[in-house]
Amino acid sequence: MSEKPVKYYVTTPIYYVNDKPHIGHSYTTILADVLASYHRLLGVPTHFLTGTDEHGQKVQQAADANGITPQEQCDQTVVRFQELWKRLEIQHDDFIRTTEPRHKTIVQQTLQELYDRDEIYKAEYEGWYCVGCERFFTEKDLVDGNCPECSRPVDKIIESNYFFRMSKYQDWLIDYIESNPDFILPSFRANETLGFLKNKELQDLCISRPKSRLAWGIDLPFDDDFVTYVWFDALINYISAIGYKSDEDRFRKWWPCSCHLIGKDILTTHTVYWPTMLKAMGLEMPKSIFAHGWWLTGRTKMSKSLGNVVNPMDMIDNFGVDAFRYFLIAEMTLGQDASFTEEAFVKRYNSDLANDLGNVANRVLNMIARYCDGKIPAVNADGFDSALEDALWKEAVAVADEMGGMISEMKLDASVGAVMSVVRKINVFLQERAPWSLAKQEGTEAEVAYCLYTAAECLRVCAALLYPVMPEKMLALRTALGMADAKPHLGKLTEFGVLVPGAEIAQPGALFPRIEVEKKMEEKPVAKPKQPKQPPKKKEEPSKDGLITFDQVMDVKLRTAVVLEAEKIEGADKLLKLQIDLGDEKRQLVAGIALHYSPEELVGKTIVVVANLKPAKLRGVESQGMLLAASKGDALKLVTVEGDLGAGAAVK
Ligand code: MSP
Repeated sequence: MSEKPVKYYVTTPIYYVNDKPHIGHSYTTILADVLASYHRLLGVPTHFLTGTDEHGQKVQQAADANGITPQEQCDQTVVRFQELWKRLEIQHDDFIRTTEPRHKTIVQQTLQELYDRDEIYKAEYEGWYCVGCERFFTEKDLVDGNCPECSRPVDKIIESNYFFRMSKYQDWLIDYIESNPDFILPSFRANETLGFLKNKELQDLCISRPKSRLAWGIDLPFDDDFVTYVWFDALINYISAIGYKSDEDRFRKWWPCSCHLIGKDILTTHTVYWPTMLKAMGLEMPKSIFAHGWWLTGRTKMSKSLGNVVNPMDMIDNFGVDAFRYFLIAEMTLGQDASFTEEAFVKRYNSDLANDLGNVANRVLNMIARYCDGKIPAVNADGFDSALEDALWKEAVAVADEMGGMISEMKLDASVGAVMSVVRKINVFLQERAPWSLAKQEGTEAEVAYCLYTAAECLRVCAALLYPVMPEKMLALRTALGMADAKPHLGKLTEFGVLVPGAEIAQPGALFPRIEVEKKMEEKPVAKPKQPKQPPKKKEEPSKDGLITFDQVMDVKLRTAVVLEAEKIEGADKLLKLQIDLGDEKRQLVAGIALHYSPEELVGKTIVVVANLKPAKLRGVESQGMLLAASKGDALKLVTVEGDLGAGAAVK
């Protein structure tokens, strides 16, 4: 692990309340949540701040368009953000709204202080204004007469205003950025800011708006005719929320901020305006400002007019919170843009979560249930070769040890990738060690126990490392592993032997049921670029004589399975839902036998199932295989096997 920080204060940008939240907002907030959670689990005092930016022209315009007051616009929209954060399991310590008195007072006090110290002065201003970016530009800044940031048309403005003497800090800022390589991250973003600072003379910053043009803002304390420029107001949230000028102890506890997370489009405001404002206030600089890239739809930027904005609520409804959080963290290399398509989502979900993590968790838990009486086994590695167990445990420890470094370097995608590689190694280990075969031999109890205990311990480490990303599912997994405390302690992760022998394990059900592609897509399409219609798949031609080969028969994996539970499916008279034991895993089947068998008479029966059939949904219920039955006329009888072979026997 890399060195632990003494405290961790992380912020997101505060979001404009002119519209409902989208995936970009969700991403930064989830990212901050993962970082905060990780530090909390390490035992580092942590503060996570998010909130909403409620003043300025954008909000005013949205209110006008909706026929409501700006305050109503704020009050109605802020709830959308707060509800979404709740659903996304965001554990922020504070949520600041810039219309709150605790913020407005501090903005005014700061302005007054800077004005009194002649850091702010009044002058006539002539320039170009972009409403979208809420920023002024000089004639030279414009690109083809449009905003250099967003390419939208700009308005010419001539008026008296108040200015912050930002220009005088230009040399200081260049020097500060150059001597603090971690101040702006990734480093190519620092170069971007340096390029901007070195190539042109920094202007003073216009920090007011005449009320005659825009009334929705914080009044300047020294001139009633003006309100504060929204960015000057908004940036101060990072200090007003933690007690600047109101609770010095609290402020000293958290400032300087460990990490301001931002999107790349708000780099200048955070790496030029904010540092110079802080310098003028005599405050320390934040430790780092990290700019992430954009989420694109395919290769196109998301925008409302293109109708390709991903709605996070739909994603949660369709796929669950944890899977959504996982995808965003795993898919974006921090700093780069990333592409969001539902196809990519489903692919990653099915491979990482359903096939790898979900499957390995099920296998380990099922085998403990079967071979260890449903309890974490006591272990003793004497008397047999435990080289495979030792090697697997080493892999888990190595990843846990690397985690701190990866997190502090903001390599979050790589960090989840590394945990997933351990998950896959557990699967390979189980294949090689084959505890189900070992268990059939005499006197191998200790060996089987050690094998399963090691797999479960590695799973415990993976669940802990993935907890910040998928808190709900990893909590379920921890509970299933018989762990009493809800949250992991990352500091004590790599001691072998944390799982308590004798603790009862539970079956959490399928942690990540496979997504059946065709069906899911139809339910609620989410920002999916239009796909050309695929020609219908050709059915494989049967051979001319209608006969199949031996190999074709052997392709069908038939296995015995024991029915554990059976129940009717509401609204489907002919269908029953079965939970079956397939030897080394549990599965769910849907079978059309309800008119022939009652649920009660099925439980305990050993049946024969096709084990390698693609899962499918029947009446919305997933079926992971197919049972065999013989039918003639109206009669139907299950195919069963003679004697007591139990579950998992191959039927050939
Ligand atoms: N209110 C300002 C921030 C003030 S912070 C003192 C603001 N708000 S915003 O709501 O427009 O955007 C907030 C953040 O969302 C920005 O960091 C922006 O980059 C991010 N995103 C908006 N769309 C995005 C994507 N498509 N992808 C990733 N993030 C993007 O700017």
